[in-house]
Amino acid sequence: MSTDFDRRDRRAFDLSGKVVVVVGAGQSPGPGMGNGRAISLLAARHGAEVVAVDLNPAAVKETVEMILAEGGNAYAVEADVAEKDDCQRIFDTAMQTSGRVDGMVYSVATNPPFDFETNSMTVENFNRGINVNMLGCYHCTLFAAQCMERNSGDTTGSIVNISSIASVKNELGLNIGIMPYALGKCGLNQITEIAAVQYAPAGIRVNTLMLGPIDSVLANRDSQSLFGLDADEATARHNEVVKLKMGRASVWESAYAAVYLLSDESRFMTGQQLRLDGGATLVR
Ligand SMILES: NC(=O)c1ccc[n+]([C@@H]2O[C@H](COP(=O)([O-])OP(=O)(O)OC[C@H]3O[C@@H](n4cnc5c(N)ncnc54)[C@H](O)[C@@H]3O)[C@@H](O)[C@H]2O)c1
Repeated sequence: MSTDFDRRDRRAFDLSGKVVVVVGAGQSPGPGMGNGRAISLLAARHGAEVVAVDLNPAAVKETVEMILAEGGNAYAVEADVAEKDDCQRIFDTAMQTSGRVDGMVYSVATNPPFDFETNSMTVENFNRGINVNMLGCYHCTLFAAQCMERNSGDTTGSIVNISSIASVKNELGLNIGIMPYALGKCGLNQITEIAAVQYAPAGIRVNTLMLGPIDSVLANRDSQSLFGLDADEATARHNEVVKLKMGRASVWESAYAAVYLLSDESRFMTGQQLRLDGGATLVR
């Protein structure tokens, strides 16, 4: 946890001694890997104790088992982030079990069902989308910061909220079915900026990791349900529309970016939107 950056034998991005809560650490059912699982595995490989949180108990248990099988340290918490009390319980559990919180990654998202025939979504589904994509981020950011305020040192905590380029650009001709997702991510971007200002004096950093096209289970499922595209067709569509032709990243690229933001090496960065999008929002 030292910040003696000039040491020749320094181990880069060392998270040992840190407790990192990863919200969305399970993954949607299906083949492949999700961002939250990859971030959890990589944070544990870099020495963090991982508090793996998800709505899906089987998926998050699997993430914990993968970490333990590699000799890492982790435990699971089942929670629905749409519920404020569940968000509070995540951080109460972390404090009771681990005694501290140094990092929090909010890697949760949902795309509620959308009816193409009537071009509509029920109010209940719309609200559920906003509550999961945005309100949960608000609560987890606040509760994480309250834990981190108790830490001492020049870098007392790092919060990484995972956003999407759907909050800033409409690359692929998204339809209004994406609204609870896109609006939720706009809110998440703003939660990051306001919290970064509020908590900077306490040494707590808050950044957005804004992802572009990543080959994850959820992305492939949503491409299918929102656009009728399978995984290969989704990659082809990105290459057709996005001029830089960098295609899609794997979840490991986002995991390495998250570990950078969690580590002391990024201690001068706060309130930023780090875009990991293969340049998709740069040149169109
Ligand atoms: N894959 C992409 O192309 C892409 C692009 C931009 C942003 N992202 C973001 O990356 C993050 C992770 O998504 P992913 O694609 O890796 O999918 P994922 O399925 O691996 O992760 C989403 C996780 O959130 C959990 N979850 C859903 N609702 C929840 C709730 N109410 N409470 C607790 N957990 C809940 C799911 O069970 C799942 O484990 C999301 O924030 C998503 O918006 C992904």
